[in-house]
Amino acid sequence: MLRKRFLIPGLLLVAILWPLISVARAQLEESDKPFAAPKPLNQVGFPSELYSWLIPADNPQTPQKVALGKALFFDTRLSADNKESCGTCHDPDKGFTDQLPTSKGIHGQFGQRNAPTVLNAMFSVLQFWDGREPSLEDQARDPILNPIEMGMKSADEVVAKISAIPEYQKQFKEVFDEAPNYKDLTRAIAAYERTQVVFDSPFDHFMAGDQKAISASAKRGWSVFNGKGRCMSCHGWNPTQPLFTDNRFHNIGVSAHKSDFVPLARKALALIAKGGGGAQQLDQLAIQTDMSGVGRFLVTKDPHDIGGFRTMGLRNLLVTQPYFHDGSQVTLWDTVDHYNKGGVQNAFLDGGIVPLGLTEPEIDDLVAFLASLTSPVYKQAAQKEYQAQFKLSRTKRPQRDTAAAMGSKGHSGPGFSGPFGDIGPEQTLENPALLGGD
Ligand code: HEC
Ligand code: HEC
Repeated sequence: MLRKRFLIPGLLLVAILWPLISVARAQLEESDKPFAAPKPLNQVGFPSELYSWLIPADNPQTPQKVALGKALFFDTRLSADNKESCGTCHDPDKGFTDQLPTSKGIHGQFGQRNAPTVLNAMFSVLQFWDGREPSLEDQARDPILNPIEMGMKSADEVVAKISAIPEYQKQFKEVFDEAPNYKDLTRAIAAYERTQVVFDSPFDHFMAGDQKAISASAKRGWSVFNGKGRCMSCHGWNPTQPLFTDNRFHNIGVSAHKSDFVPLARKALALIAKGGGGAQQLDQLAIQTDMSGVGRFLVTKDPHDIGGFRTMGLRNLLVTQPYFHDGSQVTLWDTVDHYNKGGVQNAFLDGGIVPLGLTEPEIDDLVAFLASLTSPVYKQAAQKEYQAQFKLSRTKRPQRDTAAAMGSKGHSGPGFSGPFGDIGPEQTLENPALLGGD
């Protein structure tokens, strides 16, 4: 009897408090993940000079600020329904991505873009696939207020919500000597993100002089990367800029298969003229409309940038799958097939994208090289993913077009295709005019 009397109110109490208990528990679990911990700076291949330039003078790193930023990064209370945090789409266990083609935000809504990793994001000159935000601090403002990501109505609403949490009152006071406010919130999150630096890959050890650090196949792949594959022209590497990106924007034909660029660009211009083109409008056009496909053009309104996206870094690709700004490619073999056939033709295609004539063993070598860019924290997950992708690539190659890759579609007659004809890599000293088709 007695038991029953307490059981019902007890259950009721748990039921009432459950949302709060489970939010607190989920937060704890997320931020306790070993992969979420700040990383050491003494890694082989770590660009220490570059790192010190990139810590903003007005937002120095301190352990207390990083701890606050980490708590905020994984706090679902920064979203309107208390279910999404930054960590939902940038999950440390998944290389700080969601491993989905495009991200799923509040109320199960999908956006147009693939979530890039936060790992090493501090080294990017501009943030987002289209570079619409200049810093991690500026970037962090957007997803919280985006209606299909975290769905908060305004910065004031966010500040009011976190101000009601005593630990945050205390931590903001300690770290910034201020009450909680939106600017400091983004500063703390950015400081935490700047602890997510990952190098120390087999390739870094190889470049530091250990010849045995990578396989013979990866070594051949490094050579294809720099030579026949032309990857180096955009994904550059040197010891002080070891991120494999030129930090520029190129149309490599990823959205060309589903975008009719010219009308789409006109529509985007009209909307921007009406809406003022502020940061929040650009964020919404990029995340939740088909204007997403015009890429960098949304930001610069320069026709040369139509369909242009940022050259992504290439580290830890085997935990950040799928690939490209729309998550359209499932395996690394698919991304290489895309380049090998000369991308997808369109009037704004970057001049660096031409058929490459890579053979199957060269493609396997190139992928082995990309796999050697995995940092030790993700070694196991990456090995598993490599096996899965390898297996898939033996039977399923939706992007493979050997005739286009080898240039044999560039000749008139059967097999000729594409609006501009395909240019082939068959140029020889005897016939230098062959490049460009006939
Ligand atoms: C609903 C999923 C989702 C949530 C929640 C989310 N992001 Fe993202 N994040 C994305 C997507 C998608 C992009 C790419 C958008 C684009 O480029 O237009 C992105 C881009 C980024 C980038 C840029 C990386 C690069 O290389 O350009 C950073 C940094 C980032 N997010 C950090 C955060 C932070 C901090 C939060 C929390 C305040 C957050 N994200 C919340 C999905 C999400
Ligand atoms: C003309 C410049 C250029 C060249 C050359 C180039 N890339 Fe890229 N790469 C890019 C851009 C830009 C993106 C992002 C494109 C997008 O998503 O629309 C990208 C994306 C990628 C991605 C996907 C990254 C991710 O996180 O989703 C991989 C993998 C990649 N490139 C590998 C290569 C390889 C391998 C080569 C050589 C065969 C190569 N790239 C040549 C510019 C280039």
